[in-house]
Amino acid sequence: MIPFYKHNLKKNKNYLKDTIASPYLTSGPVCEKTENLLKIRFKKKFAIMSNSWTNALISILLSLKLKPKDEVMIPACTFVACANVIEMVGAKVVFVDIDPNTKLMDLKDCFNKISKNTRVIMPVHLYGNLFNTFELKKKIPKNIFIIEDSAHAFCGEYNNNILGKYSDFAVFSFYATKSITCGEGGAIITNSKNHAEKIRSISNNGMTKPAFKRFVNNKYIPWDVYNYGFKANLSDINASILIDQIKEYSKIAKIKKNIFKNYKKELSKIPQISFPKDRPNKNRDYYLFPIGVEKKFRDKLIVHLLENKIFVTVNFNSITNLTYYKKKYKNTSCPISEKWGSEQLSLPFHTMLSTKEIKKICLEIKKFFNKN
Ligand SMILES: Cc1ncc(COP(=O)(O)O)c(C=O)c1O
Repeated sequence: MIPFYKHNLKKNKNYLKDTIASPYLTSGPVCEKTENLLKIRFKKKFAIMSNSWTNALISILLSLKLKPKDEVMIPACTFVACANVIEMVGAKVVFVDIDPNTKLMDLKDCFNKISKNTRVIMPVHLYGNLFNTFELKKKIPKNIFIIEDSAHAFCGEYNNNILGKYSDFAVFSFYATKSITCGEGGAIITNSKNHAEKIRSISNNGMTKPAFKRFVNNKYIPWDVYNYGFKANLSDINASILIDQIKEYSKIAKIKKNIFKNYKKELSKIPQISFPKDRPNKNRDYYLFPIGVEKKFRDKLIVHLLENKIFVTVNFNSITNLTYYKKKYKNTSCPISEKWGSEQLSLPFHTMLSTKEIKKICLEIKKFFNKN
């Protein structure tokens, strides 16, 4: 059996033991330590840990106080959470089509769809391929916020600047299958003090001080609530699993890059397969290994691979084709996203994948196309 994903946490230094031996299990010194690592890594003034990307995004959107007519633009081909968070805060989703080559949000379509109601644009570094946030920032009105969905990218540089440089917020996911994981988790990085304070409070039921910050030098610091919030903070238990992975990310990224190259070399020999084109940037990240095959073959290929105990999945259907969104946003069409959504599948891709397993997967794909 070749699993779709396998984590490699056993080799990590076990900070978890120290956390369990300490008085704090919820957000405390370990979360703060993790935030400091992120601030240094991404050269940002503030980092806020969250219990998921989804809740981190809801906290940001609530801090922006969006109204029902306000529009948030997202690429149509991404994970459904990107649209759900906009619905959750009662704003309007505007779907942008994707570039046929890179499969990232299409800049031209994005510029065409900007209106007087656009408040936020949220590009996604899909599969780890870095979106050109610099070009977006240069050409949009200054009052529009940019949130980089960095659920798939923890490294990557363009114009010699690390990801996160050209946005108001970048948000990471530490969900179970991500390159860095603590089961469930997320983080926000930003330079805005005002928003960082609001987001931290919203993530903690609107309270002005989390439990961890209520006692300083044996003095009690009172707290209050000026705005409602909800529960989006990460626990120190989860954060302690992240520390080593953040420190050692270059090793994780290097292993994944080699596996990616290996796969690509083998699969490039099969003419029926296409790949998203890499954008030219330094150190791009590699989160998933997606391939595209003609729609008529896609589901049959999945069955063939599963019959041979190779676990593959379809990660991203175009959100415009999902029933809720199709019904609600009737007049939206993103044909390139819809085509790619019907053609793509993701192959097993993780740091534990061996060369032998890659060979077996590629051989089974070859056998399938020889038969069909
Ligand atoms: C592109 C993208 N954005 C957001 C998310 C949501 O992340 P989380 O599960 O941490 O809420 C995912 C999840 O996998 C994703 O793939």
